[in-house]
Amino acid sequence: MQRTKLVAGNWKMNLLQSTGSALVEAFLQKVELRQDVDVVVCPPFTLLGRLRDELRRSHVHLGAQDVFWAEDGAFTGNISARMLADLGVSHCIVGHSETRGRFGKLDTSETTLPYFGETNETISLKIQALFYQSIEPILCVGETLAERKAGQTESVIAAQLEGALSGFDAAELFFFIVAYEPVWAIGTGETCPADEAERVCSFIREWFKNKFNDPDLPEQIRILYGGSVKAANAKELFNKPNIDGGLVGGASLDATEFATIVASA
Ligand code: 13P
Repeated sequence: MQRTKLVAGNWKMNLLQSTGSALVEAFLQKVELRQDVDVVVCPPFTLLGRLRDELRRSHVHLGAQDVFWAEDGAFTGNISARMLADLGVSHCIVGHSETRGRFGKLDTSETTLPYFGETNETISLKIQALFYQSIEPILCVGETLAERKAGQTESVIAAQLEGALSGFDAAELFFFIVAYEPVWAIGTGETCPADEAERVCSFIREWFKNKFNDPDLPEQIRILYGGSVKAANAKELFNKPNIDGGLVGGASLDATEFATIVASA
């Protein structure tokens, strides 16, 4: 089955109104948008409203970087999926290693843990909240360097998938994206070699085959690679049969780099 490639830019905690708008404008001028590649831009919450207006006439989708699972209520500082939908958000990152807090094992006090250390359980609640608003989740999974060295890559990723998705059935997951982001490759300039990224992405697809009794689901799910994706390595990564695009951090802050990465897909 031919899956539509997807390239998402995660701006993380960068850019202000003026610089964010300038980046989008420059990117839209440089990029050649095609029907067979989906493009998502995930700015900080503060820029979602403004970018919604600026992206409206393009085919670029608007994504958020995180969400809180409750619909509304006394949750100071948080943003719900309903609020994101109200802003025109169509995609949302969940379980990024920067929000997982070392995979839910933060050494902060117990009282702050439920709010800052994202766990598989909170990730699962977030996915549920996003589905309820028809927002497509981009679930990040990936191992740390120590876990890789200990030969635990597959078991760590399987536990992350299991923890986040065990409450769902196949029918709910047809609009769902996984991003394999090895923690050691994020922001380090050290990209995972394309063959190894392909091997792990193929393991992730296999996990869906074994977990859900639906032959169409693993073929439909898009699996992205993230971690030091650049114009120079994007093509090799995106040419792999089980890598359906990329989740791009630093390089998405440069209009020319990001447009070239999109063109590679
Ligand atoms: P870099 O592309 O900067 O390594 O970041 C990857 C990432 O964390 C995307 O979510």
